[in-house]
Amino acid sequence: MASQSGTPNTAIVGLQWGDEGKGKFVDVLAAEHDVVVRFNGGANAGHTIVVEGEKLALHLMPSAVLNPNCELVIANGTVIDPGILVKEIELVESRGLSLEGRFHVSSRAHVVLPWHSLLDGAAEARLSDRGEAIGTTKRGIGPAYADKIGRSMAIRMGDLLDEAYLRTHLEKIAPLRLEELKVAGNDSTIDTEALLADLTTLGERLRPYITDTTWLLHDRVNEKRSLLFEGANACLLDVDHGTYPFVTSSNASALGISPGTGLPAKTLGRVVGVVKAYSTRVGGGPFPTELDDATGDRIRDRGREYGTTTGRPRRCGWIDLVALRYAAMVCGADSLAITLLDVLSGFDEIRLCTNYKTASGEILDRFPPDARLLEECTPVYESHPGWAEEIDQCKSISELPPACQSYLKSLQSHLGVPIEFISVGPDRRQTMRCPQKQSCRDDSCCVPGPLENA
Ligand code: GDP
Ligand code: IMO
Ligand code: MG
Repeated sequence: MASQSGTPNTAIVGLQWGDEGKGKFVDVLAAEHDVVVRFNGGANAGHTIVVEGEKLALHLMPSAVLNPNCELVIANGTVIDPGILVKEIELVESRGLSLEGRFHVSSRAHVVLPWHSLLDGAAEARLSDRGEAIGTTKRGIGPAYADKIGRSMAIRMGDLLDEAYLRTHLEKIAPLRLEELKVAGNDSTIDTEALLADLTTLGERLRPYITDTTWLLHDRVNEKRSLLFEGANACLLDVDHGTYPFVTSSNASALGISPGTGLPAKTLGRVVGVVKAYSTRVGGGPFPTELDDATGDRIRDRGREYGTTTGRPRRCGWIDLVALRYAAMVCGADSLAITLLDVLSGFDEIRLCTNYKTASGEILDRFPPDARLLEECTPVYESHPGWAEEIDQCKSISELPPACQSYLKSLQSHLGVPIEFISVGPDRRQTMRCPQKQSCRDDSCCVPGPLENA
């Protein structure tokens, strides 16, 4: 579906295990859209924007905040820690940016409560004693979504505006959650009166923004405004389609957009899959191309691969085309944004994982459906020559070293999805767009369209 300006409603989603540079691309593409919508996840996300050397890291607020003409929506599929959201609003306002009339939070989004992060931490501690920790961000995401699905113990953003209901409900659920925490080995006490006062104050602060975003988004679609959906986390962390159980608790692929916003699937016009030029993962779970050696350390150093939310060092490895083909298929990626390409300068050889080999010697080209099967896979690599030159100042694809252009061609031909954007640095300006975009069939172009490869 397209807007008045002809810009299709677009999704920006990560095709790996997160931190692909989604925030940067939302900021870049926000200039072409009217409304930017977060549809899943919570403050487990950490999205970084860099404009003229100035950095802004956001967890809940849509990454289009620096575009003053963009409307910003946090839709129903998210889980919101209201304290973190208020801090983020203050951070944004302290930079002289106004949110008045252009920021909306769904009354249906669920509230992350203090016991959610405590229960998250307690569960992780228990699992870690057995060497099975998920490695969550401990932001209470899993327990908050579990309460949403469980229904009777949840609080939604709209409930923060009804003090009488909030009191009755909190008095019912707080003792049960504290008991549960005790069983989990955490003796924290939470003063229900103080929590009620906190939540009511936060609710009042957020009152101007809390609304029924389902109707609001349908209104915008009817007005032919163009929508940009900002994925949090990533496809391989999707609770249904990722490397379960080492995933987050929401539908973090493009499939989460419809339930997470209340818009029918046909609203979505195109999907841009964001892909790091290599792979990273934070927390536990299988990672076939992980490099636990000097090459992995070099990628981490050059890419500054430390978590935006938790500061944890990210696990690093070569690009995994088996996982990417699957993620591009599940998300219906129409084009790709290749990010952090500059990090790969200076390697003699770059490897691409094209297939997996199972313990029994079988060669797989299809991504397996669960973590235990993936754990048994080893990567089959194709070797690609590296390039010595730094590329972070390159302004067009033709300025990239030939080996770098050929790496991009190789990615595109293995994935069968055209590369539309290339990012060679964190700054908004360090971005190239393939001029022919998706219709490209030009032989002289470094990134020919998929039909040419067919
Ligand atoms: P997100 O969660 O997908 O939004 O990604 P994060 O912001 O967590 O992590 C991506 C990191 O890489 C951030 O620090 C970005 O500023 C940075 N970044 C994005 N694109 C590029 C790039 O092309 N090159 C380099 N060197 N850094 C980038
Ligand atoms: P962005 O949006 C990277 C990972 C955690 C952990 C697992 C479950 O910045 O790309 P959770 O706290 O959600 O229960 O943790 O998911 N994870 C992310 N990793 N980037 C993210 O978001 C992530 N969100 C969750 O590290 O392994
Ligand atoms: Mg991130």
